[in-house]
Amino acid sequence: MGNQEYVQRSVQAVWHPCTQMKIHEQLPLIPISRGEGVWLYDFDGKRYLDAVSSWWVNLFGHANPVINAAVRAQLDRLEHVMLAGFTHEPVIQLSEQLAALTGGKMGHCFYASDGASAIEIALKMSFHYWRNTGHPAKRHFVALANGYHGETVGALSVTDVPLFKEAYAPLLRPSSTVPSPDWRKAEPGETARDYAIRCADALEHYLRDRHDTIAALVIEPLIQCAGGMAMHDPEYLRRAREICNRYQVHLIADEIAVGCGRSGTFFACEQAGITPDFLCLSKGLSGGYLPLSVTMTTDDVYNAFYADDVSRGFLHSHSYTGNPLACSAALATLALFDQTQAIDSNRAKAVYLNTRATSLATHRHVEHFRNTGMVWAFDVKSDDPAFARKLFAAGLQQELLLRPLGKTIYFMPPYVITKAEIDLLVDRTLILLNAL
Ligand SMILES: Cc1ncc(COP(=O)(O)O)c(C=O)c1O
Repeated sequence: MGNQEYVQRSVQAVWHPCTQMKIHEQLPLIPISRGEGVWLYDFDGKRYLDAVSSWWVNLFGHANPVINAAVRAQLDRLEHVMLAGFTHEPVIQLSEQLAALTGGKMGHCFYASDGASAIEIALKMSFHYWRNTGHPAKRHFVALANGYHGETVGALSVTDVPLFKEAYAPLLRPSSTVPSPDWRKAEPGETARDYAIRCADALEHYLRDRHDTIAALVIEPLIQCAGGMAMHDPEYLRRAREICNRYQVHLIADEIAVGCGRSGTFFACEQAGITPDFLCLSKGLSGGYLPLSVTMTTDDVYNAFYADDVSRGFLHSHSYTGNPLACSAALATLALFDQTQAIDSNRAKAVYLNTRATSLATHRHVEHFRNTGMVWAFDVKSDDPAFARKLFAAGLQQELLLRPLGKTIYFMPPYVITKAEIDLLVDRTLILLNAL
């Protein structure tokens, strides 16, 4: 079968995510037959450089031999067992290794499958912590303007992306937003750090009057990804941590997209030298192989649930919580960080890409070229409301999988990208910009 047949069958039978399905009358789906490294191959033999790491999940390339072998080996031992009342080696090892990466400060790992579930868990745990410790009025959440935390009802309640949220507004719990420290919003002459401090002051002002009713502040540290790869100075995180401490408000770090090395350090919070109360990971956690998320937390939170009374416990569950196959993929992914010295090697790749990308940064159609870790973004000056769709289609012609967010083009490539592949990515993107 070639592409055409798969496309027809898929639009008949599969309701695709985040998609107005009618768009596929004009824009064909791309059926993928296999992947290798940064490349995805369709059934007609065309290839695409996965510059978005398949929705930001892939770290060490498609069909990575190390992760493949780990999942295969686990498959022959144990595919799954419920985690209530039972445990298994991969989930223990993974929890120990993740806790060690936080310097032992976040030693309790609660698992789920998707990012949004990890956020739901953090929200519920935070609320329940305050209830268990005699502060039941603390049940509201504050989030950054333009933030994104997932599509389930709780996660969407603390998301601020109107396109995803508006239709469901009557279903959602009210939450508040405070200004985003996105440095593009700085006044002329104001540095990213100055602007971060100004936004932190606004947060302080907000919490000063309302902290009695607020359980937690939810943030995407350093990069608000779905909100257009908006980047901010780590000073915001430092101050947010101090302010949350001062007012007894939990800090939930949503590192679902920016964790696992994406920001340039394993956890984005490291760049501010802070420890949140809850840290959510998913996406890259399993190397982009299997659905896995984790909400990590501190002894303080854990101890508030530890009691003889069952109802003081955290009675939340998902059937596939801590799935052994997903945990084995995650363990192989962590091993690859060590074996390939990924954080250091990414630093060198980032320097190379930045040098190569000056032609993009200075392009007449481009503004706000920005980079944090292994994420690059720039905004294209275009009045075309269909810009994102058209650029996506044009990118495919250049063997690139690019999925602009509005007028923002971004690169979030797998960490295994080579110099030659970086050259191809930059040169072909330049062709796309020149054609505008
Ligand atoms: C920062 C952030 N939080 C939460 C989510 C939701 O994760 P999932 O799509 O796995 O539910 C995403 C997904 O893009 C995200 O980027």
